[in-house]
Amino acid sequence: MIIKEYVKNKKIEMKNLILNMERRPKLVIVQINEDEASKAYIRGKLKDAEELGVNAELVKLPLDTTEGELLKKIDELNHDESIDGFIVQMPLPKHINEETVKLAISPEKDVDGFHPLSYLDPCTPRGIMNYLKAENIQIQGRNAVVIGRSNIVGKPMARLLLKESANVTILHSKTSFEDMKRYIANADIIVIAIGKAGFLDRKFDYKESAVIVDVGINRLEDGLHGDAERDLPVALQTPVPGGVGLLTRLALYENLLTIVENKK
Ligand code: GUN
Repeated sequence: MIIKEYVKNKKIEMKNLILNMERRPKLVIVQINEDEASKAYIRGKLKDAEELGVNAELVKLPLDTTEGELLKKIDELNHDESIDGFIVQMPLPKHINEETVKLAISPEKDVDGFHPLSYLDPCTPRGIMNYLKAENIQIQGRNAVVIGRSNIVGKPMARLLLKESANVTILHSKTSFEDMKRYIANADIIVIAIGKAGFLDRKFDYKESAVIVDVGINRLEDGLHGDAERDLPVALQTPVPGGVGLLTRLALYENLLTIVENKK
């Protein structure tokens, strides 16, 4: 099923679930940047909230907010019982340490799943795993290659694929081209998140039955491009735009609902 359809159906299910709750779940989004991509992500998240019946509030703090002031705000949100979960939109201004901020968010309310003690999975890997399962893609015993080793996509993605018993390899900027070719040619599932437009192209060989999950969102003059060239000769390739971005947005609310359900 194309991702748009899948997300639409999932949203209907979630909306019905929320309608039957005693109170609407509440999400807070904290923003301390004027970043265009962040603005677009936040607009999308707020639109989803409205559609789903989630009470979402945007807290915009000035760019000169100090780390101490932000930590105080986080402490307030951690203790506010009317709030089920919150996120601090990244990137943050240079004078604020992102790692300190991630660790300050209570794992109980960490909808992003960024805290090392969080029981929630980060949104992009969670969204991707749910989609692969919905598509009945076999994971157990398959060769999964994750390209990129970031803390929010590559590493948790590899962990989730391993949990489902895939044979997982992580490739990265120090992997030689020859090795890259070899692993890609043998891959059943490729998840790429390196932020390089069209990196996966026809210089690589692919299994005809391979699945490519493209996490890249690269803004070029002629529009948005993924990390993979379009229409590669594989069985399934997620598009950009209209692909993983939608799955990530959906997973944010899946995480929020997991938090609400766990409170019962
Ligand atoms: N900036 C870009 N993507 C994300 C995300 O998933 N969560 C947060 N908090 N910031 C982001």
